[in-house]
Amino acid sequence: MPHDDPLHGARIVLGVCGSIASYKAADIASKLTQAGADVDVVLTDSAQKFVAPLTFRALTGRPVFTDMYDPQSPLAEEHVALARAASAMLIAPASATTLARLAHGMADNMVALTALATTAPVLVAPAMDAQMWAHAATQANVALLRGRGVIFVGPAEGRLASGHMGLGRLVETDVVLGALRQTLGASGDLAGRRVVVSAGGTHEPLDPVRFIGNRSSGKMGFAIAEAARDRGAQVALVCGPVALATPYGVSRIDVRTTDDMASAIGHATNGCDALIMAAAPADFRPAAVADQKIKRTGASLSLELVPNADIIGGLQGGFVKVGFAAETEQVNANASGKIAKKGLDLIVANDVTAPQAGFGHDTNRVTLIGADGRIDELPLLSKYDVGHRILDRVVAILASR
Ligand code: CTP
Repeated sequence: MPHDDPLHGARIVLGVCGSIASYKAADIASKLTQAGADVDVVLTDSAQKFVAPLTFRALTGRPVFTDMYDPQSPLAEEHVALARAASAMLIAPASATTLARLAHGMADNMVALTALATTAPVLVAPAMDAQMWAHAATQANVALLRGRGVIFVGPAEGRLASGHMGLGRLVETDVVLGALRQTLGASGDLAGRRVVVSAGGTHEPLDPVRFIGNRSSGKMGFAIAEAARDRGAQVALVCGPVALATPYGVSRIDVRTTDDMASAIGHATNGCDALIMAAAPADFRPAAVADQKIKRTGASLSLELVPNADIIGGLQGGFVKVGFAAETEQVNANASGKIAKKGLDLIVANDVTAPQAGFGHDTNRVTLIGADGRIDELPLLSKYDVGHRILDRVVAILASR
């Protein structure tokens, strides 16, 4: 069975250009290697003014390429060998000069030559001063390259080497890795499918400063969204108020209350293939929301709560419905009951009191229970791996229809 992470076993050529952000390429090389990719680093002459080949050699455990004419190089016999072997090429940071080289088909250094010679996808993460990025020459080169299928990742907005704020920062390593995963996974078993995932809890307001919430961190839903993206799905992520970065390539819809979540999911699921409801929407909301902050009076305060609608239980449509059951007792029995009650195809049951599982953790231990009675009891896994196991079942259900 192929590994879940599209980076595992992939061969990535990492081209590094001269920029104050060049040092961040070391982190990218390291994270790619940790994800199981074989990383062949190619440095321009300018890059070597900022970072040494030895840095990358140590991080990747592989030879580093700098010179097209080096007779000692493993590439001496065939200078396009790297380009041919690549699953994808990533240029990070990409300077304005390198963009110009690529746009005009110049192959006068190893980075540009490899980009010209490869038929693998090319991803470019620019880093430069905001004025250089905005310059008509750069923008014309970017448009040319985009038109030829080059994938641009960033640049991001923020503090630049000049000390000014602007558009031109190299994106964070996670974003680069997300873009590579999406690209490598594009023809996976969810290609052409639209998947909606919900994540996080909801906030039900009491007054302008207070709300009723719950402990859902959103991590499980975010991990499922990434896993679906990495198998080629187009992913919409409807999330309550959570402090997590949006995964690259996933379209995020922020909501606050269960009511908001119900209408966002109603829209997003129109024509979708699957809904995976990992969110913990509040089952109740205060009967009335005070206009002003509720003051302390010394007396006790009773809140009247009214029920919220069951979102997944109320949805019509032929898409695959996956629910979650976060339980504290009689986990499988309670979860199984929800399959019929809510019209689900699959339920993901977990005991939120188990160690390393549930709220806030990066790992989870769940049991998948199908409407067909099939039960998979999974070991403790990362939430990303749990996401893949849920998606395996979704893919099987889709195939059976
Ligand atoms: N869910 C939903 N709408 C709600 C509450 C829950 O769609 N208003 C979804 C959850 O996202 C989850 C599934 O229903 O996928 C089960 O949620 P859970 O809270 O376990 O079920 P409840 O029906 O609320 O049952 P109880 O709280 O009584 O266990």
